[in-house]
Amino acid sequence: MRSKAIITSALPYANGEIHLGHIASTYLPADVTTRFLKLRGVEAYYICASDDFGTPILLQSEKEGKTPSEYVTYWNKRDYDDFTAAGIDFDFFYKTSSSENIQFVQDVFKKLDAAGHIYEKEIIQFYCSNDKKFLPDRYVKGICPYCKAADQYSDLCESCGRVPEEIFDPRCSICGATPTKEKTTHYFFKLKNFGDSLSKWLDENENLQKDVKKYVQNWIKSGLIDWDITRDIVWGVPIPLDTAKGKVFYGWFDNHLAYISTAIKFLEDKGINGKEFWNSADIYHFIGKDIVYHHYLFLPAMRLGINSEYKLPDYIPTRGHLTLQGKKISKSRNWYIGLKQFLEYYPADYLRYYLVAINPYSQDDLNFDWNEFTNRINSELIGNVGNFVNRALGFTKKAFDGVIPETEVHDDKDKEAENRIKNLST
Ligand code: MF3
Ligand code: ZN
Repeated sequence: MRSKAIITSALPYANGEIHLGHIASTYLPADVTTRFLKLRGVEAYYICASDDFGTPILLQSEKEGKTPSEYVTYWNKRDYDDFTAAGIDFDFFYKTSSSENIQFVQDVFKKLDAAGHIYEKEIIQFYCSNDKKFLPDRYVKGICPYCKAADQYSDLCESCGRVPEEIFDPRCSICGATPTKEKTTHYFFKLKNFGDSLSKWLDENENLQKDVKKYVQNWIKSGLIDWDITRDIVWGVPIPLDTAKGKVFYGWFDNHLAYISTAIKFLEDKGINGKEFWNSADIYHFIGKDIVYHHYLFLPAMRLGINSEYKLPDYIPTRGHLTLQGKKISKSRNWYIGLKQFLEYYPADYLRYYLVAINPYSQDDLNFDWNEFTNRINSELIGNVGNFVNRALGFTKKAFDGVIPETEVHDDKDKEAENRIKNLST
């Protein structure tokens, strides 16, 4: 354990409310870890931001008659307020659309380009003549070319977790029509070049979660494909090339760079040298298992591509999904519990205790069950922990006038207890 740490959790899309699934898999584990490190005397900072760019956000803002910038400003604040109410204690919460991040993303792109990791290619892009739109990512659904699962988004197969090069039997997800194809020039990141160095990094890094490493290694063995980092939309980080007018970066190119740019902004505002701190700290990126591909391949490859000017993560704690009464959470089917609403009924500590208690150190799924929630809060949090604290405080009040006395001598029993506590945490 280094004496410094930067902890991040996956940046929430500025596109809807935070629910218990987010808290369980990502924000609470990161918050608890940060608190633990701080108590151990580590100079630790918990950094997060809203993930502002991308097609779904642009289309949603259009639907609501707002500018994308107004739209994300609303969700940035709302998310931050909800997190705060749940005791998620960020040292800094910023946004991927900050001027600092835009600048940083463009600089990283230029460095990758200069190092020969970028190329230009004419591609065929889906276009819906009903909706009169280019249809990137989530706006095309079809059959995953790898695992053959039907009804998958063109930018991520939820069944096997891979990012397809080209989806089979594409359909416009707005109107269901088969889209036509139009030519456009896109920029590609040579992910293929990084197979060996990624594999080496995974092998050498003992702290990465073993269950995840195994299948990422298999993806690498079966061959990586180059990555299209361009979108023909107006809402995103502009690609800084004369030949790329009107084009922006794909959200997954810019969003994780905000881990770095946000941390640097926060540190420099405190008068600390940001790059030096980053490179001498333990770096933790907490994520849910649906974004393993992006964090174990794209993110480290891009850092390797700029000569590890900012070091790669030491830990990528990866958690499973939360199910609700045994069923998969789905916002569209209204099977989820919003964080804000939950906290109108129960104190944050109930939620935090229960979710921590049921969370395994793996990417296995975990289940929220109302009966179990009631029992564990009553018997464990209130019965055991609450009772223990209450007795200790009552005893301190009665015997020592409410002031904890300094210990004078440690006998063998004290030392034994102290040792056992210390060994628990290493
Ligand atoms: N917004 C993304 C999601 O919810 C996560 C982005 S994490 C980042 O899936 F680091 F890449 F920004
Ligand atoms: Zn698949």
